[in-house]
Amino acid sequence: MYYGGDYNPEQWPREVWHEDVTLMRRAGVNLVTVGVFSWARLEPSPGAHDFGWLDEVLDLLHAGGIRVNLATPTASPPPWFPAEARNVTADGVRLAHGSRDTYCVSSPYYRERSRDVAARLADRYGGHPALAMWHVHNEYGSWCHCEHTAAAFRAWLRGRHGTLEALNDAWTTAFWGQHYTAWEQIEPPRTTQYLPNPAHALDFRRFLSDELLGHFREQKKILAPTGAPVTTNFVFGAWVPVNHRDWAREVDLVAIDHYPAADPPSETAFAADLARHWAGGEPWLLMEQAVLTYRGGRMLAKSPGEITRLSLSPVARGSQGAMFFQWRASRGGAELWHGGMVPHAGPDSAVFREVCELGALLSRLRPAGPVRAEAAVLWDAESWWALQAPGLPSSEIDYLDAVRQAHRVLYRHGVTADLAHPSGDLSGYRTVLVPNLYLLSDDDAANLRRYAEGGGTLVVTYLSGVADPYGRVRTGGHPGALRDLLGISVEEFRPLEGPVTLSNGDTASVWSELVRLRGAEAVATYPDGSPAITRNGGAWYVSTRLTDDGYARLLGLPPHPAGLELVRRGDTVFAVNHGDRPCPVPPGHDLLTCTTLDTLPPGGFAVLDSQP
Ligand code: GLA
Repeated sequence: MYYGGDYNPEQWPREVWHEDVTLMRRAGVNLVTVGVFSWARLEPSPGAHDFGWLDEVLDLLHAGGIRVNLATPTASPPPWFPAEARNVTADGVRLAHGSRDTYCVSSPYYRERSRDVAARLADRYGGHPALAMWHVHNEYGSWCHCEHTAAAFRAWLRGRHGTLEALNDAWTTAFWGQHYTAWEQIEPPRTTQYLPNPAHALDFRRFLSDELLGHFREQKKILAPTGAPVTTNFVFGAWVPVNHRDWAREVDLVAIDHYPAADPPSETAFAADLARHWAGGEPWLLMEQAVLTYRGGRMLAKSPGEITRLSLSPVARGSQGAMFFQWRASRGGAELWHGGMVPHAGPDSAVFREVCELGALLSRLRPAGPVRAEAAVLWDAESWWALQAPGLPSSEIDYLDAVRQAHRVLYRHGVTADLAHPSGDLSGYRTVLVPNLYLLSDDDAANLRRYAEGGGTLVVTYLSGVADPYGRVRTGGHPGALRDLLGISVEEFRPLEGPVTLSNGDTASVWSELVRLRGAEAVATYPDGSPAITRNGGAWYVSTRLTDDGYARLLGLPPHPAGLELVRRGDTVFAVNHGDRPCPVPPGHDLLTCTTLDTLPPGGFAVLDSQP
């Protein structure tokens, strides 16, 4: 188990480094991420390098038995970087130095300097005994709309579409006279007069994902010969133009950053299950989390034990440890209030005491078997991107909310779910939930059909299968790609202005449709008697947004103690009680306390040796 966090010694005088190593040892820290934002310190002016301080830090950590996840600093170019290598917003504003992530990934200068600094680090530290892994860059996701980007975008489009004719067709440029007759006419989706073309915007995100990946690959090629694994920390958010599923094939270890907000337990379980999906079921790593929670514009202290519970949950779901941003809370700079494993108050604090307890706990954990999931929820980053377009039939459409709801309903009822891609092997699941899967290729639709016809239960919700991978509507009745499988045809979308009550007593909101039965039966109807939920053999369709309770009733999920998280891995059950009441758990021997248990107290946790 890895345990530690981002370590930024350049923010502190040397004496603190020695105290850091002493405290890391006390806390059981065994891995720290060093150098993420150090470019300006490593190369204070172009071509002039200072590695002395980093030599000293790595030697000190090594002497203390702490391994290093060594970063390349390319997410934060130094102030001497030329303006032409900084990113330009969609409005044409060239970003100024003064924060971070001010680079254009398509700038040849930025690329060249990135390779240079990575090569120097590989050369100098590739054989350092403290080196455990390489951490390329930080949270890839920067956008740019400059001329370098435009040129790279055009080259990418030629590769994807081949001909302008194919591009014009894929983008439906016949609408509003956008027909292109030369590649040079195509620009990044810069600010324009009214609604942009959604297919243009979608392809630009796909391009950015590949373009950023090109930057990662260049560094990986330089670092990999050192023999240490190479990774980067994935950031998850609506603004991120990165398809992590594609990227996961390129990293040696999938690593994610996670900062839950509204409902930390269910959000943490979701993020962890998504990371496990990207990792193809292999171990992954929670690279960053915080000792506090950002919610409603506030930075909230975690309650006693919460740091531990929210670390144990990802470990239960496949993380190879728990890492934080950051080791020591900064005294100044943009994130001085973000908190740290060593807070401003110092080691004589509740946070540091819990940090030490967590380190001791993780050191007692042994590898467990694979996570066992009976259900899957489909996840498709491109459908998320497509459903962020303006001009949709309802501004309340929220892909992430729909997927999270499906996952949360299962989670709250004690069902461990995998996230899966529509092209994936679904045959091992009893139930597959398909929320708002807007873009669907013919092949993926055939995959879902095979699953349902093979005896699986497929629960499809509204807006799934409506469009092809370029966002073009499949005509002839929605959802075009799944109409026959579901035995229905949707004639009209009818977004709701307020909640309505269905014939089964459940409350529906946000969305409704005029559904015609074409072989399916109605399971529940709208107040006007038209079908709201339908069933065609194993293929169910939900044409509206149900409440969590309504969703659970539809899936036939039995009650489950509030706040209790159970994850089975082989003969081991990870049990975490996030609630405020005692909860019964499958009786077993707790490998952490070496006692036998059948109940967890509020806030309690256990790793039970328990027969299925
Ligand atoms: C991200 C970044 C860190 C830090 C944290 C906290 O995860 O990778 O550098 O900014 O957020 O905000």
